[in-house]
Amino acid sequence: MAEFRIQPFSDSDIDDAHDLWRNVEHLGISAADATPDLQRFLRANAAFSFTARAVSGPGQGVLNGTVLAGHDYRRGYIYHLATRGTQRRQGLASALLDASLQALAGANIRKCHAFVFRDNPYADLFWKQLGWQRRDELDVFSREIDTGSPSGD
Ligand SMILES: CC(C)(COP(=O)(O)OP(=O)(O)OC[C@H]1O[C@@H](n2cnc3c(N)ncnc32)[C@H](O)[C@@H]1OP(=O)(O)O)[C@@H](O)C(=O)NCCC(=O)NCCS
Repeated sequence: MAEFRIQPFSDSDIDDAHDLWRNVEHLGISAADATPDLQRFLRANAAFSFTARAVSGPGQGVLNGTVLAGHDYRRGYIYHLATRGTQRRQGLASALLDASLQALAGANIRKCHAFVFRDNPYADLFWKQLGWQRRDELDVFSREIDTGSPSGD
């Protein structure tokens, strides 16, 4: 089994994260994932967001997993939990999620939500295995807000 280092997600990880996310299924990438928007997210949420890089072997240094997490002082939110296809079922996503949940607990956040596409075949198995509860009574409503500016800043 490969060894990984879990570290806070920094601005210098963004290009590698984009590369990983482009190659991972069931992840919704949007304009909010543009580099300036992610940098802004990380300024507020660097303490809760993590990456996993291989620490040995031929793939040493390769970014193999990410999680973005943050909170609004009330609830925590998880985004872009993803692991490289060749590195799955080794506990990598569980470890990334643990790191975020521990950090959120340290900020006194007692509940966390994750948004997951319905057609993701592993979602039920993955989240339920880790003790997360599916919320059948909830739907998500979204709309654009006009900021008068094309970017997130
Ligand atoms: C879902 C995902 C993050 C899981 O990553 P991972 O590193 O393989 O996860 P883990 O090794 O920590 O798996 C933990 C447990 O979840 C369950 N699980 C994970 N992937 C599974 C799969 N493909 N089939 C069945 N069970 C699965 C298993 O119970 C597993 O424990 P086990 O390997 O001891 O049986 C990864 O498959 C992925 O990046 N998918 C694409 C993006 C995505 O779906 N993100 C999640 C929604 S936001």
